[in-house]
Order: sequence, then structure tokens, then C-alpha cells
Amino acid sequence: MRYINIAILFSGNGSNLENIVRFLGQASTKQWLDSKHISLHIAIALCNNPNAYGVQRCKNLQIPCVIINHKDYATREAFDEAMIQELESKKIDLVILAGFMRVLSERFINRFRAINIHPSFLPFYKGAKAIQESFYGAQDFGGVSVHWVSLEVDCGEIILQEKLPKIPNESLQEFEARIHALEYELYPKAILQALENLGA
Ligand code: GRF
Repeated sequence: MRYINIAILFSGNGSNLENIVRFLGQASTKQWLDSKHISLHIAIALCNNPNAYGVQRCKNLQIPCVIINHKDYATREAFDEAMIQELESKKIDLVILAGFMRVLSERFINRFRAINIHPSFLPFYKGAKAIQESFYGAQDFGGVSVHWVSLEVDCGEIILQEKLPKIPNESLQEFEARIHALEYELYPKAILQALENLGA
């Protein structure tokens, strides 16, 4: 049996976090994990924003949530060091970024394997405004990408990605809702793929 502890990091709404936690709790997922001899434990959720709605979701889902407010630290490195200590104390093997809006330091990235979801078809529209930029962009598609985290933001090796064709006359809000629906489909699949490759 391979024992894998995961941490989910988020900053805001936490809908991907909730979707992932529910997915990992499903009987079919547990069966899949058993078949791969993986014992998976959601050791912690970690949030940098005390006012994030995701904190309430963690309570409802009954998963431990630790808040480390980046504003309490003078530098990115000091903030990351606090996160590293917390994650090391929980013996984390894989970090899942789910709407975590802080750029991670080199030390953090070298210390933990981490994956991230990005709401565009990378390499198009890196950065924090990906949905809007995809919507107004020249391509006839948006998309969702899940990738390993590397030193350059939104640039790591792709685990899974899918295009989302634009629909004529669709509003930005409608497009955004479809992007999120695709995220909820894609991230769980990509997590299983990442778990399989983790030991490799
Ligand atoms: C998602 O669109 C994700 O792709 C991006 O941030 C958003 C987080 O949404 N990185 P939520 O907090 O999971 O609802």
C-alpha cells in the first residue's frame, strides 16, 4: 500500500476544493484507489484568506482547515516558510492548488510536488484574468488545464487539458459557468492521473 497525504490550498470560494473532497469520498474513487494500492488521506486544507467562503465549506465537509494569512508575513519567503512547516508537520506528499492566488516561492516549489488548475487552454492566457481574456480573445475556444507546478507561473507540464468551444452570443457569465463545470469534471480525473505518476 502507498500512503499519500494531500493538502488542498485555496484562497476564495473553494468550489473546486468542495468538488475534489466530494469526489475523493465517492465509493467508485475509493475502489479505484484500492485497485492502485493507494491509501489517500486529505490531511489538511490551507487558506491564506481568513474571509474566504471556502473556510465555511471546509467546516461543512468536516475537513481540517488552517489559515495562514499572507498579510501577517513581511515577505513571500516568510509566508511560504510558514506554509512549508505546516505541510511538513502533516507529512504532505502532494499539494493540490485549487484557486490559490499567491505565487509560490522557489523553495516551496522545490520542496513539494504540486498541481494546479488554470481556467484557460494553456499556454493561452496565463495569469489571474484567464477566463475574461479567453472570452474576449481571438480563438473560438476557451478551456481548462491542469498542470504540475513549476517555477514559472502557469507553465508546468500539462496533466490534462480540454478546450471549451465558444457559443455565439453567450455572455461572459455563461461562458464562466461552463468553464467551472469543465473544471469540476477535469480536476478529479487529473488528480488520479497525478497520483498514479507521483511515485514514478
Ligand atoms: C478557478 O477558476 C480556478 O481555475 C482558478 O481559480 C478559480 C477558483 O475557484 N485557479 P474556486 O475557489 O475553486 O471556486
